[in-house]
Amino acid sequence: MKTNKKNKLVFAGILLGMMLTYQNLVASDMRLPNIKMPDSNLTFKMIEGYQDYKIVASHYRTDKKEIRYILANKIGYDALKKKAKVMPEGSKIVKIGWSAKPMATWPDALEADELQRVEYMVKDSSVFNADGDHWGYARFVKKDKQYIPYKEGSAECISCHKAVKESDYLFSKFQETY
Ligand code: HEC
Repeated sequence: MKTNKKNKLVFAGILLGMMLTYQNLVASDMRLPNIKMPDSNLTFKMIEGYQDYKIVASHYRTDKKEIRYILANKIGYDALKKKAKVMPEGSKIVKIGWSAKPMATWPDALEADELQRVEYMVKDSSVFNADGDHWGYARFVKKDKQYIPYKEGSAECISCHKAVKESDYLFSKFQETY
């Protein structure tokens, strides 16, 4: 009886060890590179977990031939869904771009090929006031399996996003799913 209990404990210990090792492996696989935008100082890690943000919109850029998903953290998602005029502090909006290729199983459809970029905007008026938009901007471009921060900085981002001042500098609208 005692040995049986001991065996069970040992087995449970081994199982737990295996689970933890697996979790660590998965976590280290998803670890974001330690890089940041040159002027805004925004890091890639600031959007840790962005893969779990919810999709708010999707676009196909005909000029860049890229499929793009726009995702938002909970604060941003809720505000976009309610069509908020001004996005609340802490909103994080992420854009992921992929090159496109004919779908292997149905060539008339396009599917995502290589990941090209991860970009984001974060609303933080205590840090970002330039031109009154209160957003911080970051772009990380993927080349040869490596991410590189956009060296031109964020002035360019602001100058273009200004075109949609009325929607709080966001081009995307909440994409209905029902
Ligand atoms: C010449 C114009 C232009 C420039 C420059 C530009 N963007 Fe955008 N951005 C767009 C357009 C258009 C969209 C929506 C279409 C799409 O998904 O590409 C967009 C979408 C976004 C989104 C999703 C939220 C939204 O507004 O819809 C983020 C995040 C973003 N851009 C970040 C950046 C960052 C960071 C930079 C600078 C490194 C930047 N953008 C530079 C035009 C621009």
